[in-house]
Amino acid sequence: MDPLFEISDLRKTFSSGGWLGIQSGRKTIALDAIDLEIPEGCSLGIVGESGSGKSTLARIIAGLENRDSGVLNYRGRAIDDWLRKNRKAYLRDIQFVFQDPLSSLNPRRTIRRSLLAPLEALSNLNSEERQKRLETVIEEAQLEESYLDRYPHEFSGGQAQRIAIARALMLKPKVLILDEPVSALDVSIQAEILKLLRRLRKEHGLTYLFISHDLAVVKEVCSDIVVLHDGKLVEQNPCDELLQSPKQAYTRMLVSSAYSFK
Ligand SMILES: Nc1ncnc2c1ncn2[C@@H]1O[C@H](COP(=O)(O)OP(=O)(O)OP(=O)(O)O)[C@@H](O)[C@H]1O
Ligand SMILES: [Mg+2]
Repeated sequence: MDPLFEISDLRKTFSSGGWLGIQSGRKTIALDAIDLEIPEGCSLGIVGESGSGKSTLARIIAGLENRDSGVLNYRGRAIDDWLRKNRKAYLRDIQFVFQDPLSSLNPRRTIRRSLLAPLEALSNLNSEERQKRLETVIEEAQLEESYLDRYPHEFSGGQAQRIAIARALMLKPKVLILDEPVSALDVSIQAEILKLLRRLRKEHGLTYLFISHDLAVVKEVCSDIVVLHDGKLVEQNPCDELLQSPKQAYTRMLVSSAYSFK
């Protein structure tokens, strides 16, 4: 079976220092010849230190950022083709959850409006169907009805992240890209959100791309891990194997620094 995503020789550079950077020709290599296959239904941890290219990779996969070169196929078809001919379907299938839910929810919208917004933008559902979908998702994400007419600032970080996850589910996506989804939360709240994510993945057969700098968190959710270092993919393996016997020196360093203080 074809992998869900097929990535080959993917490259991305940024001009550093804005316009002056372009002038001076200074470049940051954010992604350097990435080869990666992501099977459907897997939960892939993407780890690496700050600036290693994790978010850039995620944004390119989500169609939010252009690549410089390389192959990026989704279900056997080039992403460019999807975005040109089936843009809405692609954007429906692949949803993002960010680190800071409060800044990703519009402060002037009630939770109800925020949750319905993706359906209004990207689905053909009528208002009765949208309402039904809303009811299903608030139950799945264990939100309370009473949340719906409140505003984001009225919620704690954990509740707001639950709402952001609910919003990501509204369009029945196939893939969730989670960019440091629990990094801003207390440990006990982290555990609740990770449990919710595990359950949702199981119930819906979702594919997760789970970005984190915290290997202990990744281990809770992911079956496989890729390690990025300076824009290069340095190691890819099943989670247990990578944590128990990391092959590359950089991964060994990452694993030993993650577990040395525990
Ligand atoms: N829009 C941009 N303009 C210029 N440089 C950028 C831009 N986005 C990312 N970069 C650079 O590309 C590199 C990779 O950045 P990226 O945000 O993907 O890293 P990351 O692994 O997600 O880091 P973090 O863990 O801090 O979120 C970094 O050197 C970053 O400074
Ligand atoms: Mg990032």
